[in-house]
Amino acid sequence: MIEKSKLGFVGTGNMGRALIEGLVGQLPSGQITATDIRPEALEGLSALGIRTSTDAADAVRGQDLVVLVLKPQVAAPVLETLAAHFSTRQVVVSLMAGASTARLEELLPAQMPVVRVMPQTLVRVRSAACALCAGRAASAEQVAQVRSLFDLVGTTVEVAESLMDAVTGLSGSGPAWAYTVVEALADGGVRAGLPRETALTLAAQTLLGAARLVLESGEHPAVLRDQVTSPGGTTAAGLHKLEEKGLRDALISAVLAAAARSAELGQS
Ligand SMILES: NC(=O)c1ccc[n+]([C@@H]2O[C@H](COP(=O)([O-])OP(=O)(O)OC[C@H]3O[C@@H](n4cnc5c(N)ncnc54)[C@H](OP(=O)(O)O)[C@@H]3O)[C@@H](O)[C@H]2O)c1
Repeated sequence: MIEKSKLGFVGTGNMGRALIEGLVGQLPSGQITATDIRPEALEGLSALGIRTSTDAADAVRGQDLVVLVLKPQVAAPVLETLAAHFSTRQVVVSLMAGASTARLEELLPAQMPVVRVMPQTLVRVRSAACALCAGRAASAEQVAQVRSLFDLVGTTVEVAESLMDAVTGLSGSGPAWAYTVVEALADGGVRAGLPRETALTLAAQTLLGAARLVLESGEHPAVLRDQVTSPGGTTAAGLHKLEEKGLRDALISAVLAAAARSAELGQS
């Protein structure tokens, strides 16, 4: 039961803090311990009822889930110093891009249950698309426990670990694709005469609403697009221009380039 689980965060930088902020109000704050070697990273969290510490061991001892939100390159030395504090009744939840469950299992005590998650900072507004995969010692129940944690801050899918690079290319880097599209649409609105703030509101809300309709209606996006494209109309003229400029090709290429880079970083 995730509602009763105690969570310890090793690392409270951009991603760790975003997740903690998304969980506040969803779980009792007293169940969360945030640790970071930088005291300034912990500022303001005590006021939210979160326990804070600059000793990462406090994120391990006595916790049910230990959430690793470090840069992958410091994982090995940090886990070495923490090894004595782990127990195999705990679950290690790694949010570190490119760190495979096999690699983490090598760094952790034998038989340690590990669940690897590719999150998004959108957890902060409880609208993230997260993907997870299980290590060798994680039971179905433990995976479900981690999944229910991330379901508190968005939608979660389980994938084979071999698909984690593809997930990184699509949803891991995806917020950056979306911000670029929102900005470019707003620029178009400004070019057409709208005030900047109005253009940004219209652009962002249009993407939010269109995404919700895809998820809630279950309709294919092409069907929904056809419903708003009248013959010879304004939208048809704009769509023709998007084809001419290669928007789809650009987005597909961005996902593939990010997935390839993720695979490359995972090797190093
Ligand atoms: N940011 C994203 O959008 C995003 C998305 C998906 C996945 N991730 C993953 O999330 C992880 C963290 O990313 P981030 O952007 O949050 O990085 P970050 O802002 O650098 O956060 C990591 C934090 O951990 C601290 N730290 C380092 N060693 C520590 C130790 N021994 N004990 C406790 N804390 C320690 C760091 O302090 P120092 O700065 O002093 O080292 C820093 O405050 C990465 O593995 C990344 O792949 C991030």
